[in-house]
Amino acid sequence: MTTPTTGHAAEAGLIRGLEGVVAATTRLCDLDGARGRLAYRGYDIDDLAGHVRFEEVVWLLWHGELPRAAELEVLGGELVAGATLPPTVVKALKVLPRTMHPMRVLQSGIALLGGLDPDADDGSPEANARKATRLVAQTASLTAAFHRIRQGRRPLPPRPGLSHAANFLYMLAGRKPRAVQIRAFDAALVLYAEHELNASTFTARVVASTLADMHSAVSAAVGALKGPLHGGAGEAVMRTLEEIGAPDQADAFTRTALAEKRRLMGFGHRVYKAGDPRARILRALAAKACQQSGQGIWFDIAVKLHEAVSREKGLIPNVDFYSAPLFAALGIPVDLFVPVVAVSRIAGWTAHLLEQYADNRLIRPRAEYVGPERRPVPRAVDRG
Ligand code: CMC
Repeated sequence: MTTPTTGHAAEAGLIRGLEGVVAATTRLCDLDGARGRLAYRGYDIDDLAGHVRFEEVVWLLWHGELPRAAELEVLGGELVAGATLPPTVVKALKVLPRTMHPMRVLQSGIALLGGLDPDADDGSPEANARKATRLVAQTASLTAAFHRIRQGRRPLPPRPGLSHAANFLYMLAGRKPRAVQIRAFDAALVLYAEHELNASTFTARVVASTLADMHSAVSAAVGALKGPLHGGAGEAVMRTLEEIGAPDQADAFTRTALAEKRRLMGFGHRVYKAGDPRARILRALAAKACQQSGQGIWFDIAVKLHEAVSREKGLIPNVDFYSAPLFAALGIPVDLFVPVVAVSRIAGWTAHLLEQYADNRLIRPRAEYVGPERRPVPRAVDRG
């Protein structure tokens, strides 16, 4: 891409949707779209998901290496301590309409937490590291607390000694999850933790590039994640599976949907053309979880839909496709599917923010002007 020299952006050449544009360097994530490979800090996700805990990936993303046992213990303690929400936030959650989408609640809650954070106005690397830890903890506790409150129940503090994945499920349901559920959910959190310059991470980096604080960047990222072309796709996948209703209806549904030019949620990807490696792992997790929870129907419909969509349109399932039957099997309410992605992606967002602050340049692209030529301003009486 050439750099405009005259002040007219047209010279730069428009790239719609910034497709293929390289807008930052990063040490966090190596995304090979052509071969369908993904690695965090040099570790392939196949070797991470199901083998290390989400907290270990959080540490890896922030520090570049997996934590030693003592470091992991400290982080675990900090996440439990950091999850407690200030009373003002709990009060605010209680006055919100119970029908409000939990992503709106999360976005507002994070903005509010920013104003109450003890390091609110401190942008030093030390303060940002502390805020990153609290943000990981509080994204989970905010999501769980709102869910409890909207059911007329008391929000629960996390239990020391439980992993982050286990604690989230515990804070949501009020009972300690089974080991198989924890393992599957932990692996899903690992798979969603980081994904280079996706729309929400880019949003976070744009906000941080103005030197706005971390909470402002994260609440903006939550807004970007909510959209159905991004994280919101998972909720839409589940609604589609419900609409199809039975595995033998998937073919007819697909033909009608494609004839009506409907966008099939959970399919297609801007970067992966040979397949999304996360979807492959999530499919295996979903198969097991659906079978164990007696909700095999969701997995069976998903498989039939996958077959029909690849046959009829050649689209690949993305990360949000098989996570839908998996989350359903884990008892996660459908409108919490997107917040759950935030509970994980906060790891990547905060790691990118630390990278951005450490080597900042304002992100300020140009637009190609396609409006009218310059013209005189008509007086009000002459406008008819
Ligand atoms: N259903 C139907 N047609 C599709 C789909 C789909 N899911 N995805 C792409 N296409 C078609 C699209 O209609 C277009 O066809 P044509 O050239 O005939 O007009 C062609 O494929 C290219 O589509 P595009 O929208 O220009 O491609 P993109 O790179 O902008 O799209 C995408 C990427 C993810 C926005 C798109 O595939 C999509 O809308 N998928 C459904 C939503 C979804 O699952 N989002 C989650 C994405 S991965 C997780 C995340 O980001 O959080």
